[in-house]
Amino acid sequence: MDVTLRVFRYNTEAGRTKPSFDSWTLTDVDPTDRVLDLLEFVKGYHDGTLSFRRSCAHGVCGSDAMRINGRNYLACKVLVRDLNSTTITVEPIMGLKVVKDLIVDMEPFFESYRSVLPYMINDDVPADGKERHQSIEQRERFDDTTKCILCAACTSSCPSFWGDGKYVGPATIVNAHRFIFDSRDQAPGERLQILNEQEGVWRCRTAFNCTEACPREIHITQAIAEVKHAITSGNVD
Ligand code: SF4
Ligand code: F3S
Ligand code: FES
Repeated sequence: MDVTLRVFRYNTEAGRTKPSFDSWTLTDVDPTDRVLDLLEFVKGYHDGTLSFRRSCAHGVCGSDAMRINGRNYLACKVLVRDLNSTTITVEPIMGLKVVKDLIVDMEPFFESYRSVLPYMINDDVPADGKERHQSIEQRERFDDTTKCILCAACTSSCPSFWGDGKYVGPATIVNAHRFIFDSRDQAPGERLQILNEQEGVWRCRTAFNCTEACPREIHITQAIAEVKHAITSGNVD
Protein backbone atom coordinates (compact mmCIF):
# COMPACT_ATOMS: atom_id res chain seq x y z
CA MET A 1 0.00 0.00 0.00
CA ASP A 2 1.00 3.67 -0.42
CA VAL A 3 1.21 5.85 2.64
CA THR A 4 1.74 9.59 3.00
CA LEU A 5 3.93 10.20 6.02
CA ARG A 6 3.75 13.75 7.43
CA VAL A 7 6.33 14.55 10.09
CA PHE A 8 6.71 17.62 12.29
CA ARG A 9 10.06 19.35 11.76
CA TYR A 10 11.93 21.87 13.87
CA ASN A 11 15.70 21.98 13.77
CA THR A 12 17.56 25.21 14.53
CA GLU A 13 20.92 23.58 13.67
CA ALA A 14 19.63 22.99 10.16
CA GLY A 15 18.11 26.48 9.91
CA ARG A 16 14.54 25.26 10.40
CA THR A 17 13.59 27.74 13.08
CA LYS A 18 9.87 27.66 12.43
CA PRO A 19 7.82 24.51 13.05
CA SER A 20 6.61 22.93 9.81
CA PHE A 21 5.77 19.54 8.31
CA ASP A 22 7.57 17.45 5.72
CA SER A 23 5.73 14.79 3.70
CA TRP A 24 6.90 11.66 1.96
CA THR A 25 4.89 9.28 -0.16
CA LEU A 26 6.04 5.79 0.71
CA THR A 27 5.21 2.91 -1.61
CA ASP A 28 5.19 -0.80 -0.84
CA VAL A 29 4.33 -0.23 2.79
CA ASP A 30 3.19 -3.41 4.48
CA PRO A 31 0.10 -2.96 6.69
CA THR A 32 2.03 -4.73 9.45
CA ASP A 33 4.91 -2.24 9.28
CA ARG A 34 5.21 -0.16 12.40
CA VAL A 35 5.31 3.63 12.30
CA LEU A 36 8.87 3.37 13.62
CA ASP A 37 9.78 1.35 10.51
CA LEU A 38 8.49 4.19 8.31
CA LEU A 39 10.47 6.79 10.25
CA GLU A 40 13.63 4.65 10.04
CA PHE A 41 13.10 4.24 6.29
CA VAL A 42 12.77 8.00 5.76
CA LYS A 43 15.83 8.66 7.92
CA GLY A 44 17.85 6.01 6.07
CA TYR A 45 16.81 6.76 2.49
CA HIS A 46 15.38 10.29 2.30
CA ASP A 47 16.56 12.62 5.06
CA GLY A 48 19.28 11.66 7.51
CA THR A 49 18.64 14.78 9.59
CA LEU A 50 15.21 13.55 10.72
CA SER A 51 15.54 13.19 14.50
CA PHE A 52 13.57 11.03 16.91
CA ARG A 53 14.29 8.91 19.99
CA ARG A 54 14.17 5.12 19.92
CA SER A 55 16.20 2.29 21.32
CA CYS A 56 14.69 -1.16 21.85
CA ALA A 57 12.09 -1.06 19.02
CA HIS A 58 10.01 -3.55 21.00
CA GLY A 59 7.92 -1.55 23.45
CA VAL A 60 10.30 -1.93 26.37
CA CYS A 61 12.53 1.14 26.69
CA GLY A 62 9.81 3.80 26.48
CA SER A 63 11.81 6.22 24.35
CA ASP A 64 9.62 6.61 21.24
CA ALA A 65 6.33 8.01 22.53
CA MET A 66 4.92 10.26 19.79
CA ARG A 67 1.65 11.82 18.76
CA ILE A 68 0.45 9.81 15.78
CA ASN A 69 -2.71 10.92 13.98
CA GLY A 70 -3.59 12.95 17.08
CA ARG A 71 -3.07 10.25 19.72
CA ASN A 72 -0.10 9.20 21.80
CA TYR A 73 1.50 5.87 20.92
CA LEU A 74 4.88 4.19 20.99
CA ALA A 75 5.99 4.34 17.35
CA CYS A 76 7.45 0.83 17.69
CA LYS A 77 4.13 -0.64 18.82
CA VAL A 78 1.60 0.89 16.46
CA LEU A 79 1.09 -0.82 13.11
CA VAL A 80 0.13 1.05 9.95
CA ARG A 81 -3.05 -1.02 9.64
CA ASP A 82 -4.11 -0.02 13.19
CA LEU A 83 -4.37 3.61 12.13
CA ASN A 84 -7.00 3.00 9.42
CA SER A 85 -5.60 5.79 7.27
CA THR A 86 -3.21 6.13 4.35
CA THR A 87 -2.04 9.47 5.74
CA ILE A 88 0.00 9.26 8.92
CA THR A 89 0.89 12.44 10.77
CA VAL A 90 3.61 12.23 13.40
CA GLU A 91 4.23 15.00 15.95
CA PRO A 92 6.14 15.34 19.23
CA ILE A 93 4.30 14.59 22.46
CA MET A 94 2.66 17.68 23.94
CA GLY A 95 3.45 19.78 27.00
CA LEU A 96 7.25 19.37 26.85
CA LYS A 97 9.59 21.71 24.95
CA VAL A 98 10.59 20.54 21.48
CA VAL A 99 14.37 20.19 21.14
CA LYS A 100 14.56 18.90 17.57
CA ASP A 101 11.92 17.40 15.26
CA LEU A 102 10.20 14.68 17.34
CA ILE A 103 12.55 14.99 20.32
CA VAL A 104 11.29 16.83 23.39
CA ASP A 105 13.12 17.86 26.57
CA MET A 106 12.27 15.05 28.99
CA GLU A 107 14.05 16.61 31.97
CA PRO A 108 10.94 18.23 33.55
CA PHE A 109 9.22 14.83 33.28
CA PHE A 110 12.08 13.03 35.06
CA GLU A 111 12.44 15.83 37.62
CA SER A 112 8.81 15.28 38.58
CA TYR A 113 9.37 11.51 38.70
CA ARG A 114 12.32 11.91 41.06
CA SER A 115 10.31 14.19 43.37
CA VAL A 116 8.21 11.30 44.74
CA LEU A 117 11.15 9.17 45.91
CA PRO A 118 10.65 6.36 43.37
CA TYR A 119 12.75 3.77 45.19
CA MET A 120 12.38 1.44 48.16
CA ILE A 121 12.90 3.12 51.52
CA ASN A 122 13.53 0.69 54.34
CA ASP A 123 16.63 0.81 56.54
CA ASP A 124 15.65 -2.09 58.80
CA VAL A 125 17.55 -5.35 58.58
CA PRO A 126 15.19 -8.09 57.27
CA ALA A 127 13.93 -10.51 59.94
CA ASP A 128 15.96 -13.38 58.49
CA GLY A 129 18.88 -11.09 57.70
CA LYS A 130 18.43 -11.65 53.95
CA GLU A 131 15.00 -11.02 52.44
CA ARG A 132 11.87 -8.97 53.09
CA HIS A 133 9.00 -11.40 52.67
CA GLN A 134 5.68 -10.53 51.10
CA SER A 135 2.49 -12.51 50.55
CA ILE A 136 1.11 -13.04 47.04
CA GLU A 137 -1.73 -10.64 47.88
CA GLN A 138 0.69 -7.96 49.12
CA ARG A 139 2.72 -8.25 45.89
CA GLU A 140 -0.42 -8.09 43.75
CA ARG A 141 -1.49 -4.86 45.45
CA PHE A 142 0.95 -2.80 43.37
CA ASP A 143 1.66 -5.17 40.47
CA ASP A 144 -0.07 -3.01 37.83
CA THR A 145 2.05 0.06 38.52
CA THR A 146 5.34 -1.87 38.34
CA LYS A 147 4.80 -2.10 34.56
CA CYS A 148 5.57 1.55 33.80
CA ILE A 149 8.36 2.17 31.27
CA LEU A 150 8.44 5.97 31.79
CA CYS A 151 7.49 6.75 28.21
CA ALA A 152 5.49 9.91 29.16
CA ALA A 153 2.61 9.02 26.83
CA CYS A 154 0.24 9.49 29.77
CA THR A 155 1.54 12.75 31.20
CA SER A 156 1.84 14.37 27.77
CA SER A 157 -1.78 13.47 26.95
CA CYS A 158 -3.18 15.04 30.13
CA PRO A 159 -5.06 18.37 29.77
CA SER A 160 -4.09 19.35 33.33
CA PHE A 161 -0.41 18.94 32.42
CA TRP A 162 -0.79 20.93 29.19
CA GLY A 163 -2.10 23.84 31.27
CA ASP A 164 1.20 24.97 32.79
CA GLY A 165 3.42 21.86 32.92
CA LYS A 166 3.61 22.13 36.72
CA TYR A 167 1.23 19.28 37.60
CA VAL A 168 3.33 16.27 38.62
CA GLY A 169 1.41 14.22 36.07
CA PRO A 170 0.06 10.68 35.92
CA ALA A 171 3.40 8.92 35.33
CA THR A 172 4.80 10.36 38.54
CA ILE A 173 1.71 9.27 40.48
CA VAL A 174 1.90 5.77 38.98
CA ASN A 175 5.50 5.44 40.16
CA ALA A 176 4.65 6.79 43.61
CA HIS A 177 1.75 4.29 43.78
CA ARG A 178 4.19 1.46 43.07
CA PHE A 179 5.97 2.18 46.41
CA ILE A 180 3.11 3.64 48.48
CA PHE A 181 1.26 0.31 48.35
CA ASP A 182 4.35 -1.90 48.72
CA SER A 183 4.16 -3.48 52.20
CA ARG A 184 7.99 -3.48 52.45
CA ASP A 185 8.35 0.27 52.05
CA GLN A 186 8.45 2.60 55.06
CA ALA A 187 7.86 6.00 53.46
CA PRO A 188 4.33 6.03 52.02
CA GLY A 189 3.44 9.00 54.24
CA GLU A 190 6.24 11.14 52.75
CA ARG A 191 5.10 10.41 49.22
CA LEU A 192 1.45 11.06 50.06
CA GLN A 193 2.43 14.39 51.59
CA ILE A 194 4.27 15.38 48.40
CA LEU A 195 1.28 14.35 46.26
CA ASN A 196 -1.12 16.27 48.50
CA GLU A 197 0.60 19.53 47.50
CA GLN A 198 -0.84 22.09 45.10
CA GLU A 199 0.64 20.46 41.98
CA GLY A 200 -0.10 16.91 43.14
CA VAL A 201 -2.95 14.45 42.67
CA TRP A 202 -5.71 17.00 43.12
CA ARG A 203 -4.83 18.56 39.76
CA CYS A 204 -6.18 15.36 38.18
CA ARG A 205 -9.67 15.97 36.78
CA THR A 206 -10.30 12.34 35.84
CA ALA A 207 -9.98 13.02 32.11
CA PHE A 208 -8.88 9.39 31.44
CA ASN A 209 -6.62 10.43 28.50
CA CYS A 210 -3.68 8.94 30.42
CA THR A 211 -5.28 5.52 30.76
CA GLU A 212 -6.17 5.47 27.06
CA ALA A 213 -2.63 6.45 26.06
CA CYS A 214 -0.68 3.99 28.20
CA PRO A 215 1.07 1.38 26.02
CA ARG A 216 1.39 -0.88 29.08
CA GLU A 217 -2.36 -0.77 29.72
CA ILE A 218 -1.83 0.36 33.30
CA HIS A 219 -5.07 1.40 35.04
CA ILE A 220 -3.65 4.85 35.65
CA THR A 221 -6.82 6.72 36.58
CA GLN A 222 -7.66 3.99 39.08
CA ALA A 223 -4.15 4.23 40.58
CA ILE A 224 -4.59 7.99 40.94
CA ALA A 225 -7.96 7.45 42.66
CA GLU A 226 -6.30 5.00 45.06
CA VAL A 227 -3.63 7.55 45.94
CA LYS A 228 -6.31 10.22 46.50
CA HIS A 229 -8.17 7.82 48.77
CA ALA A 230 -4.98 6.99 50.69
CA ILE A 231 -4.43 10.72 51.31
CA THR A 232 -7.95 11.32 52.62
CA SER A 233 -8.21 8.07 54.62
CA GLY A 234 -4.58 7.70 55.74
CA ASN A 235 -4.92 4.03 54.77
CA VAL A 236 -2.45 2.37 52.40
CA ASP A 237 -3.72 -1.22 52.62
FE1 SF4 B 1 4.13 5.31 29.84
FE2 SF4 B 1 2.05 4.06 31.01
FE3 SF4 B 1 4.25 4.66 32.43
FE4 SF4 B 1 2.63 6.58 31.64
S1 SF4 B 1 2.14 4.93 33.09
S2 SF4 B 1 4.85 6.64 31.53
S3 SF4 B 1 1.96 5.85 29.66
S4 SF4 B 1 4.10 3.25 30.69
FE1 F3S C 1 -4.96 13.81 33.46
FE2 F3S C 1 -5.31 11.21 33.59
FE3 F3S C 1 -6.24 12.76 35.48
S1 F3S C 1 -5.47 12.48 31.78
S2 F3S C 1 -6.75 14.64 34.45
S3 F3S C 1 -4.11 12.46 34.99
S4 F3S C 1 -7.20 10.92 34.69
FE1 FES D 1 11.79 1.21 22.94
FE2 FES D 1 9.73 1.90 21.36
S1 FES D 1 11.84 2.00 20.90
S2 FES D 1 9.67 1.37 23.45
